[in-house]
Formats: sequence, C-alpha cells, structure tokens
Amino acid sequence: MATPHINAKKGDIAKTVLMPGDPLRAKFIADTYLKDVKRFNTVRNMFGYTGTYNGKTISVMGSGMGMPSIGIYSYELYQFFGVENIIRIGSCGAYTDEIDLYDVLLASSAYSESSYAKVQSGDYDEAYTYPSKSLNDNIEAQAKALNIPITKGVIHSSDVFYREHFDDYKTIYKKHQAIAVEMESFALFHNAKVTGKKAACLLTVSDSLVTKAATSSEERQNAFTKMMEIALSIAE
Ligand code: HPA
Repeated sequence: MATPHINAKKGDIAKTVLMPGDPLRAKFIADTYLKDVKRFNTVRNMFGYTGTYNGKTISVMGSGMGMPSIGIYSYELYQFFGVENIIRIGSCGAYTDEIDLYDVLLASSAYSESSYAKVQSGDYDEAYTYPSKSLNDNIEAQAKALNIPITKGVIHSSDVFYREHFDDYKTIYKKHQAIAVEMESFALFHNAKVTGKKAACLLTVSDSLVTKAATSSEERQNAFTKMMEIALSIAE
C-alpha cells in the first residue's frame, strides 16, 4: 500500500534500510554495490532502491535533510512497510579537535533541543534518544572485521545549520559531551522507539566547527565508501 510519500508496495522494501540524506547518494549505493536492483520510490525524487549485497536483500533510500524529513520517511517505513532496521549513513561537523575529517562516528545517543519528540508523542523530558544496542554491537563488530576504526559518542541533532551565535557549539560540547553535529538522528531514534523498531546512525566527518576545515563534495563521496561498506554488511 502506498503512503503519501512512498509509492511502493509492502514487499518492495527490505527489512533493513540504509538512509543517506541525499537521494542521489542512495542511487550511487544501489548502482555501485547492489545486484538485481529495483527502484521502489520516486515521489518527490526521494529515490529508494532494493537489491542484494553478498546475496542478502537490503534497501537504500534518501531521508532528506533535517528531522521533519527523516521523521516522515522513517515513520512510514517502520509503520507501513514492515521495515525493522534503519541505519542512517550521513555527514557531520566535528565539535572537538580530537576527531578528524573523514573519521567514521557511531552515535551512542542523540542530544537535541528539538520539539520532535514532544510533538510526536508527548515525551516532554526527552533531550536524548538512543540507537538500538544490538544494531550498534553488530556495526562495531562489522567495522572491526573490515578493519575500519570507528569512534562512538553523543551526537547533537540540530534544527539549525546556519547559526547567528556560532560559538554556542562549545557549550553543547561541554554540557552534553556531543562530539559532532548533524540534523536527523534524534528523530530517527525517537521513531524507532515509538514503533518498537531499531535504528542506528553512522556518520563521516565532513567539516569541523573547531578548525573550520571542510571537504569538497567529490572528496566526501569517496570517503563515504568506508561507512557504506560497514552499513551494507548489516544486511540480514
Ligand atoms: N551542522 C549540521 N549538520 C551538519 C554539519 C554541520 O556543521 N556538517 C554536516 N552535517
């Protein structure tokens, strides 16, 4: 049954979905890594694909940017298409000089000032949401097997990319121990909680708020392959 934002049939989507922000990155993953690929979504060009990786079925779909966008797509995938696991694979900005450009991070929790959880289910105290422990354990084991170092830590999910008070990130780093910023994982983890499903978030560092270093989109594309290979190996 199609939903307002995904024009697929229930069996079209695998139990595990990888979600980059950019639908063209979803296409890149499908073209580069998957066999027997079928596109299952075209609504708003938020492309989604299902195929096989090492003989196992897996899907990949764009989430768009920000919590309202990933909130819609992840909810529909969990609630209406039988999806069990969503692994976000995104980019982030470093809040500490202890992590470098292109490092791969795994979210141990997501801190946010967002009203997403309050509005979605009345969780008024919820400043942190959490990934699935079993998915995180699986991701850490796969990263080890592939010899890819990953750093686990609190991630700040922000509603704002362009801030007037840029240095505020230092307070968030100190108060919440958030090592990096992105814009989606808090809502994804919340949706997994309310639907009884699983989520995790792998990130590649694309810029640093400390050093102001940034990467080009071409460099990012190449660096992201490490993170994609870890996530793809989670296919069930
Ligand atoms: N802010 C928010 N999200 C991001 C950033 C950032 O600096 N870099 C990559 N995703």
